[in-house]
Amino acid sequence: MGKDTIAMSRFGRITAVGVAAVFSIFGAQTAIRAQGAPPVPAQPQSGATQEPNVRTAGTESGIALFQQHCMGCHGNANVPRAPQPSVIRQMTPERIYEALSTGLMKVQGASLTEDQRKMLATFLSGRPLGSLQEGSAESMPNRCDSNPPMTAPGSGPEWNGWGADVANTRFQPAQDAGLSPEQVPNLKVKWAFGYPEGLSAYGQPTVVSGRIFVGTDTGYIYSLNAETGCVYWAYQAEGYVRNAISVRAVKGLGDTKYAAYFGDGHAYAYALDAQTGKPLWKTKVEENFISRVTGAVTVYDGVDYVPVSSSEEFSASSLDYPCCTMRGSVVALDANTGKMIWKAYMVDEPKPTRKNSAGVQLYSPSGGDIWSAPTIDTKRHVVYVGTGDAQSNPVPLTTDAIVAIDMKTGKLLWHYQAQANDAFIGGCNGASRTDNCPPVNGPDQDIGNSPILRTLASGKRVLVFGTKNGRIIALDPDHKGKRLWEVTVTPPVKGQSPFYAELNGIVWGGAADDRHVYYGLHAGGVVSVGLATGKVDWYNALGNPPGRVANSSATSLIPGVVFVAGNDGKLHALATSDGHEIWSYNTKHDFETVNKVPAHGGTIDAIGPTIVNGMVYVGSGYAVVGSGTGNVLIAFSAE
Ligand code: HEC
Repeated sequence: MGKDTIAMSRFGRITAVGVAAVFSIFGAQTAIRAQGAPPVPAQPQSGATQEPNVRTAGTESGIALFQQHCMGCHGNANVPRAPQPSVIRQMTPERIYEALSTGLMKVQGASLTEDQRKMLATFLSGRPLGSLQEGSAESMPNRCDSNPPMTAPGSGPEWNGWGADVANTRFQPAQDAGLSPEQVPNLKVKWAFGYPEGLSAYGQPTVVSGRIFVGTDTGYIYSLNAETGCVYWAYQAEGYVRNAISVRAVKGLGDTKYAAYFGDGHAYAYALDAQTGKPLWKTKVEENFISRVTGAVTVYDGVDYVPVSSSEEFSASSLDYPCCTMRGSVVALDANTGKMIWKAYMVDEPKPTRKNSAGVQLYSPSGGDIWSAPTIDTKRHVVYVGTGDAQSNPVPLTTDAIVAIDMKTGKLLWHYQAQANDAFIGGCNGASRTDNCPPVNGPDQDIGNSPILRTLASGKRVLVFGTKNGRIIALDPDHKGKRLWEVTVTPPVKGQSPFYAELNGIVWGGAADDRHVYYGLHAGGVVSVGLATGKVDWYNALGNPPGRVANSSATSLIPGVVFVAGNDGKLHALATSDGHEIWSYNTKHDFETVNKVPAHGGTIDAIGPTIVNGMVYVGSGYAVVGSGTGNVLIAFSAE
C-alpha cells in the first residue's frame, strides 16, 4: 500500500535526508555536539546500581545508534513508508523494542545487541519499558458499575464488523442508524475516550448490544458502554489491531455466549468472550514474521474468514533480505475452536530464482496481500477479496485483482485483474535502488478496499470496487466476474507527477445503497456513481482544491446521508441526493476524555465512522502516514 508516498510528498512532509534534518529532529543540543562541541557527560543517577542504566545510556548512545542503523530509512525521503523519527519517538518503548526484537524491524534489529535494542527503545520513546500497563482497564477511572448480560448480536441496533453487513455495503438501515438526515446537523460530541499511549486510532468501532468493541495500535481491545464510554473490559493482543471487530454467538464454549473476533499485526486471529474479554482461542494464521492481519475478519455461519497481508513490500529492498516470499491469503477458521479449515493463497509457492549482489537467495512469485475485510456472497457461497501487488517478477494474474474463493473448499474460482505487471517495493527509487528491486517498480496499485456486493432494484447483482488510479469497476458475480462497467473518477491535480497521479483514487473503500456507490478519493472529495449505469452522479471536492486533502478513508452510509473523513481530521456528512454538505466537524484538537487520558485527534484514514442508535462513532489519528497522530475515539449524538 505504497499510496502513502503520495500523502507524504503532497503535504510537504518529506524531509531532506542530511545533516540539517538530523539536527532538527533531535534538537539544539545534538546539533551543537555534532558541530564539534564536547560531549555532555551523563549525570549519575541517584540510587543507580552497577548495572548499565539503559535509559540514561540510551540518551547518549541511542542517537548515534539511530543515525547509524535506522536513518537510512527513517527520515529518508526515498522511504516515505518508514515512520518519521518524530513518530517513532511517540511510540511506547515496548513497541519499539518489540519491533526490533521480534517484529517489523527484526532484520534491522538483528545486527544490534540486546542492550542496544533496549537503548534505542528507551531513547526513542523517552519512556521506560513497562509503561504499557496504563492501557489496562484496571488503571481507568471510568469502569462500568456493572456488566449486565449482553443481548444477542442481531437482536438490536448494531454495526457489527467492517462493512455493517457481510456484503461490505457499509450501509446502515434506518432502524439501526436511529438518525435521520434532519437530525445530522445537530450532531455534537457527547463523550470522548483516550487510548493510553496510542498514536493511531485506526480501529473502527463495532457496536453490538449497546457496547463498543474497538482495537487500538497499542494492541488493546476495549469494550465500552456505547452511551457513556464507561469501560467493561480491556484485553491486550500480541500486536496492533486495525479495522473492525465482529461479534457473533458461539456454541459449546461453556458460559460464553458471544465472541469478539479480530486479527492483529502479528498475524494472530483471536476470539474473546464478548461479555468479559476473556480469551477463548488464538491462532497464528501465517508464520512469516512480516505477515500481519490489517483487514477485518469477516465472520459468517460459524466460520472466520481472516485476510492476511504483510509488510514485505515496504522492507524487501535491503540486500540482507531474501526477497520475496510473502503471499497474501484468506484463512478460514472454525469460529468456535480457532482450528484452520482451509487456507487460500493468492499466489503460488515461491521458488528460488537467483542470488542478489550480496549473495542472498531471492524468490518468486510473491505478493497478493489482502488488506481489507473479505466479502461474503451468501447466495453463491463465495468469498471475494481485493488483492495487493507483487514484490517480484513474474507477476501473478491474481495480484491487484478481485479474487473469488469457494466458501467450502478454499478453491480459487475466478479472478479479475485490474492492473497487470505490478511488482512494487517501497524505497526502490533513485539512489536507494538495490539488486532486490523489480526492474520496473510499480505502479503500486494494490486493491485495499473490500469489494461491495449489492442487489439492484432490477434484481441484478453487482460486485463493485475501486482502484488507486481512480477507476470504479463493477463485476457480475453471477457470471464469473465479467465486467459490467468501468468509470474513471479522479480529478486532475495541478502540477502533479505521473507517478502520484496514479494514486489519486480509491484506497480504503466506499459504501453503497441499492442505487449508488459513494467513494472518497485520495485526491480529495467524494463521488457518487450509479450502480446500474456506472455514470458519475455528483462530485463534491469538500471545499479543497484537488490534491490538498486526502479523503481516502472508507465512507459510511445511512439512508440519505454519506459520511466521509479526511487526513485534515475533518468528518463530513453529505446529502446523498446531490452531495451538498449538511454537517462537518474538525477532530484535530485536544479532547477531554471520560477515562482522563490526555487525547487528541489527527489524521483520519482507513476507517470510516459507524452510526448506531442515534450516535456516530469515529477514531481520529493515523500515524501510518506522516505525522497526523491521534488517540481519540469520539462519540457524537444528535440529542
Ligand atoms: C531498510 C529500511 C529501514 C531501516 C534500516 C529501519 N527501518 Fe524501521 N521501518 C521501516 C519501514 C518501511 C517501516 C514501516 C513498516 C510497516 O509499516 O509495515 C518501519 C517501521 C519501524 C517502526 C514501527 C513499528 C510499529 O510498531 O509500527 C519502528 C519502531 C522502527 N521502524 C524502528 C527502527 C529502528 C530503531 C531502526 C534502526 C535500528 C530501524 N527502524 C531501521 C524501514 C526501516
